[in-house]
Amino acid sequence: MYRITHLFIRAFEKALHILHKWDERFGGRTFRAERHRKLVIRSAECHSMTGDADEAYYRDQYWFWMEKYFRENHVSPVGSFLDLGCGQGRFSSLIAEHYVRSGGKVVGVDISPEAIRVAEAYKEEKNLSSTEYRVDDLVPFLKQSKDNSFDAVLFIEVAFFLPGWESVTKEILRVLKPGGLLCASFRSRYFSLLYSIACGKWSDVPVILEKKEGVLWNTDIHFVWGSNDETKQFLEETGFDVLGVMGIGNCSGIEGDPLAPVARPSGLDEEETKLLMKSELAVAESVPDAGRYMFYVAKKK
Ligand SMILES: C[S@@+](CC[C@H](N)C(=O)[O-])C[C@H]1O[C@@H](n2cnc3c(N)ncnc32)[C@H](O)[C@@H]1O
Repeated sequence: MYRITHLFIRAFEKALHILHKWDERFGGRTFRAERHRKLVIRSAECHSMTGDADEAYYRDQYWFWMEKYFRENHVSPVGSFLDLGCGQGRFSSLIAEHYVRSGGKVVGVDISPEAIRVAEAYKEEKNLSSTEYRVDDLVPFLKQSKDNSFDAVLFIEVAFFLPGWESVTKEILRVLKPGGLLCASFRSRYFSLLYSIACGKWSDVPVILEKKEGVLWNTDIHFVWGSNDETKQFLEETGFDVLGVMGIGNCSGIEGDPLAPVARPSGLDEEETKLLMKSELAVAESVPDAGRYMFYVAKKK
């Protein structure tokens, strides 16, 4: 009896030790994968990336760069595009409507059934036969995808709350054709700090300064952040040639963002919106980590 109790206590201590290490690795709070997943799915249901006027403005900003790099790198309009964490199809539908020609295809994958329902409804409405949507976790989806099968992979505004984003990026490299393009956005350390300071969430500041991922802002969501140098180095070491890094939203933000008091695109008139876009595009490459996201376009070596 004594031995069984002893073994039980040892096992319990070991579990606590593992949890403690996990806690250290993922910031000040314990990371709970299932809770994180539920919150991510809920966030996709609560915030429409296609219905929100600010998000529509940022879509156009991303598209300015994406289309430029697609054309400069001769990404085939009859090729295969993969949109990982496609949400409501903000970019899948844009590519289908403005880039892909007959014979090309766009595959959008998202873990949120509600987001995919919205994407499917838009596909029906506009008769976008080149798009195909799947409700799936992008990690197993990628694992099942063949080597060298896509001309371009989009990974936009997903890595910032994706545990294991580094191995996902390696899988993206594998599924891209040689010379294929990755279009990915990441959160900067600077933005995460600005957010914490603006909200008075000072206890998160040391975690953001010292680490690159963790549970922040009392949310139970696992966030990821980094400097431009760190992210660029990671992509280069993984096997990409980074062609460009641009800041998205360097002078503005959506509701709740630290830069929203500077400007919210949805609150501007047409002329002001054009001037904001002109300003943000003009400074995007000189301060890539000052905005809402750092946007990377990188080529598989
Ligand atoms: C901020 S939204 C961005 C959506 C889209 N990329 C865009 O820019 O409009 C993040 C999306 O990533 C999805 N997501 C997060 N983790 C995922 C995972 N493991 N597998 C598939 N989708 C995921 C969420 O459901 C959400 O729709």
